[in-house]
Amino acid sequence: MSLPEIDGERLLSALAQLGRIGGLDGGGVCRPALTDEDKAGRDWVVGRMREIGMQVTVDGIGNVVGVYAGREDLPPVMTGSHIDTVRTGGLYDGNYGVLAGLEAVRVLREAGIRTRRPLAVAFFTNEEGARFAPDMMGSLVFQGDLSLDAALATRGIDGTTVAENLERIGYRGHAPVGAARVGSFVELHIEQGPVLDLESVTIGAVEGVQGISWTEFTLSGTSNHAGTTPMRFRHDAGLVAARISCFAREMAREMGGDQVATVGALNLFPNLVNVIPSRVVFTVDLRNTVGAMLEDAEQRLWAFADEASAAEGVTLSRRSLARFDPVKFDPALIGLVEATARELGYSVRRLPSGAGHDAQILARMCPAAMIFVPSVAGLSHNVREHTEPADLVAGARVLLRVLMQLADRQPDQ
Ligand code: GLV
Ligand code: MN
Ligand code: MN
Repeated sequence: MSLPEIDGERLLSALAQLGRIGGLDGGGVCRPALTDEDKAGRDWVVGRMREIGMQVTVDGIGNVVGVYAGREDLPPVMTGSHIDTVRTGGLYDGNYGVLAGLEAVRVLREAGIRTRRPLAVAFFTNEEGARFAPDMMGSLVFQGDLSLDAALATRGIDGTTVAENLERIGYRGHAPVGAARVGSFVELHIEQGPVLDLESVTIGAVEGVQGISWTEFTLSGTSNHAGTTPMRFRHDAGLVAARISCFAREMAREMGGDQVATVGALNLFPNLVNVIPSRVVFTVDLRNTVGAMLEDAEQRLWAFADEASAAEGVTLSRRSLARFDPVKFDPALIGLVEATARELGYSVRRLPSGAGHDAQILARMCPAAMIFVPSVAGLSHNVREHTEPADLVAGARVLLRVLMQLADRQPDQ
């Protein structure tokens, strides 16, 4: 019997269709978690799950799981990702893994194939964390390390809560959280970095995900007149934010290795040309593949922030928005991804993920791994994010084969 094949045109067309929901003029997508655009995207994906006969459930945090029954009632092999985007996102971040998972199930169904284990395709709520922190919120609740109540009470950058937005878009479901059975989890995703593209390698067998630390700083100084206040009398919160921002960049450069640092959100108050800023709220995102180095970076940054604030007579407070240790994926699954890519004739290399992913949370409850495909010029979280169609199809082919192998394994394997 010939093996079923991904329909590349159908996958690309699905990506383009979902990309039009919340699509931005001139390209890219704006579909932040729990917005009306997210609801429209969710409805569209749920429609496709039902079209291919999947049993769809929605849990209390709005995670959606579609199940294609297996021959035996075993914990499913799960794939999927997220469909929320940053405000200036691309078509593929998250969406690709979800739609490729559905394409895999569709071709199995068309070929009349039922695997031993059920296959599940999930999209988790608020993976991005750009509107509501932490990122990977839905998978954390699904896995059980974040309580549903705490997640629902989270306030976003616009002051509204996760609960009220979930209710508004009609995705506060009833499936229980924290008790799911999952046999294994494989997430297909674009790399979002430059490695595969630079080396012209088609498939990445992801070894793990680097540690992530998000801190929000609030600086409080004194507003005063920009023309009349001598420099020595100032308590300028804006200046301190600028100093901390420069320090973070310099520290990452000095530490070298995989250390990165980003000041991505910054709000000055009152933000007027002739008023010394009295308050600044800003974020620092630190990441490193080595846990001890990430801790060192945090300590150095926080110590500098304390010193710089004291020197300007500005008060500082900080709170953690997200904190994840580095994660290693399952060695057997990494090997399976690598071997499957080779069997299909694709070039493959192992690499760590620089971005956070739901798979790193699922790895706490079952063997987990990821498959990467190249991002042209390493661009992501950018409307120009692009992956060549042939690479998108290649990744989906690897995913299909990996899912089939996992789903047909003997129960004790
Ligand atoms: C999610 O995209 C993250 O890594 O910030
Ligand atoms: Mn993603
Ligand atoms: Mn993202």
